[in-house]
Amino acid sequence: MLKPPASLVASTLAFAFTSPTTPYAPETTDAPLNEPANQACGYFDRSVACVQAIRWVHLLGSLTRPNRALCSRPELPSCSLGRMAGGPMPSADEIRNVQRATWAGLSAGWEKWDSVIMDQLGPVGAAIIERLGIAEDHQHLDIAAGTGEPGLSIARLSPKGRVVLTDLVAEMLDIAARRARAQGVANIETKVCSADDLPFSDATFDSVSVRFGYMFFPDVAKATAEFARVLKPGGRLCSSVWVKPGENPWTAIAMQAIAAEAVVAPPGRDGPDMFRCAAPGYVSALYEGAGLRDIAEWDVGVELVTRSPEQYWEMISEHVSLAVAALQQAGEPARERIRAHAIAKVSAFEKDGKVRVPGVARCIVGTK
Ligand SMILES: C[S@@+](CC[C@H](N)C(=O)[O-])C[C@H]1O[C@@H](n2cnc3c(N)ncnc32)[C@H](O)[C@@H]1O
Repeated sequence: MLKPPASLVASTLAFAFTSPTTPYAPETTDAPLNEPANQACGYFDRSVACVQAIRWVHLLGSLTRPNRALCSRPELPSCSLGRMAGGPMPSADEIRNVQRATWAGLSAGWEKWDSVIMDQLGPVGAAIIERLGIAEDHQHLDIAAGTGEPGLSIARLSPKGRVVLTDLVAEMLDIAARRARAQGVANIETKVCSADDLPFSDATFDSVSVRFGYMFFPDVAKATAEFARVLKPGGRLCSSVWVKPGENPWTAIAMQAIAAEAVVAPPGRDGPDMFRCAAPGYVSALYEGAGLRDIAEWDVGVELVTRSPEQYWEMISEHVSLAVAALQQAGEPARERIRAHAIAKVSAFEKDGKVRVPGVARCIVGTK
């Protein structure tokens, strides 16, 4: 398995691996995530990855309880108001540092599994591009561009224009640059920066895309204000986020397998995690707050296709942040049980000689 740096491991302490006879069984599943009863973070204090991991397992634990609410998170993003539930929130710098270490560590996995990931996320990129109305001379900004999509596809559609790929993590943008060279795409440039502090003048871009980046930003309202600031009047912003885990078995299967081995504290404060923006209207409210108009959101289906259940597990365990971090905390016997559990579950999705696991993303568009 690919090994992220020690910093990722050190910053991700949420999993305590024990015997399989002590599975996580959240007692507070139906309580809002920001209630005091859910704030017992204790020794996880000030670890963003901890909050992320706790939430994950809490949400996934709830998947095993039919007819109970997954999460009664309020529709309005609390962090957009500049406050966080559940005591001191990690600072923006702390969040960025954890995200930087995490994604630098995951970059090799993203490059290794590039074609599988891009096939899975392709329909979401296509949906974003369709709503942005790209012209051949567009000046486009791709935020949290990672390994380059949808920015590289947009660059091909605007040969007389320019696409700026930005990301917090240089290692991810290095891959994007390599992919651009391999694809013969020359009208791009890369810039390392955080989404909430963009080094561009007001009204620079015709369009802005953010595919699966929103959930990781330290301040989602500040980032949205930045996207609106750098858009030209009439320019469009389109982003995507994951909807709830129950509709995303491609990742829920792996996380349930991990949760069966981990003793985890109940969830705590708001902060970066994969399902942070899952509530309907969450991102639309941010767009409204930034003064955008003609806002619409809609769901897009995806499918993760691998050759076998074993390849599914290999891929997930090398590029999904929580899986990588949790597995590093596990001893070899626990890792093997998690692998066996995930492989057994995902086998239900075998069809026509492939494993096809569905998922659902939400896209959100708005105009300045
Ligand atoms: C799930 S990847 C998405 C990559 C690409 N857009 C795609 O859809 O394939 C999330 C990306 O968000 C980036 N990221 C995390 N925090 C960020 C921040 N504060 N500002 C900009 N990018 C950030 C990570 O480095 C990572 O490349």
